[in-house]
Amino acid sequence: PRHIWLSRHGESEYNLQGKIGGDANLSSRGELYAQALPGIVRRSGVPQDTQLVIWTSTLKRTIQTARYLQAETKWDQLEWKALDEIESGVCDGMTYGEIEKTYPEDFAARDQDKYNYRYRGGESYRDVVIRLEPIIMELERSDNIIIVTHQAIIRCIYAYFMDSSSDKSPWMEVPLHTLMKLTPKAYGTKEERFKADI
Ligand code: G3H
Repeated sequence: PRHIWLSRHGESEYNLQGKIGGDANLSSRGELYAQALPGIVRRSGVPQDTQLVIWTSTLKRTIQTARYLQAETKWDQLEWKALDEIESGVCDGMTYGEIEKTYPEDFAARDQDKYNYRYRGGESYRDVVIRLEPIIMELERSDNIIIVTHQAIIRCIYAYFMDSSSDKSPWMEVPLHTLMKLTPKAYGTKEERFKADI
């Protein structure tokens, strides 16, 4: 790949309530990020006469985030189920406080080994890395892709390109409303970040 752009979806209604999972709409701030995204992508430097391809998950918050970018650029857009957020099973729709209260042992086990901990009825980071294999393969043979997805998914894609360890990558903070541009080189990957002013 020449460049890979990565962004979380804009802030969602669930983000505001501290809930995980679900399929919420963007909040009004998230909507502002969606509107700002075409400008941020331009500012990040798209090589001249280059068409990017926009990849989103199948969840509303990523599709809504890419909406203005797609409308403005007319770039091709693809929705991938494999880019959906880590499946939190029985914990879907709960806050971390509620999870800790309802499933204290699970909460502690996840803290102990976040990469391998699998939500009841859901996934672990290890599971996510496996389901991302086709995405990584497709990325490896593509030139310029912009991916609008979710925090856990970005952690895994980022770890692959930046070669970060599996015990640290599930803890990496991926800020909202920030576009990352990765440029793989022969030795290591260059990273740039562009923060939205909203
Ligand atoms: O909704 C889930 C988060 O984006 C992933 O967060 O794996 O740190 O709980 P976590």
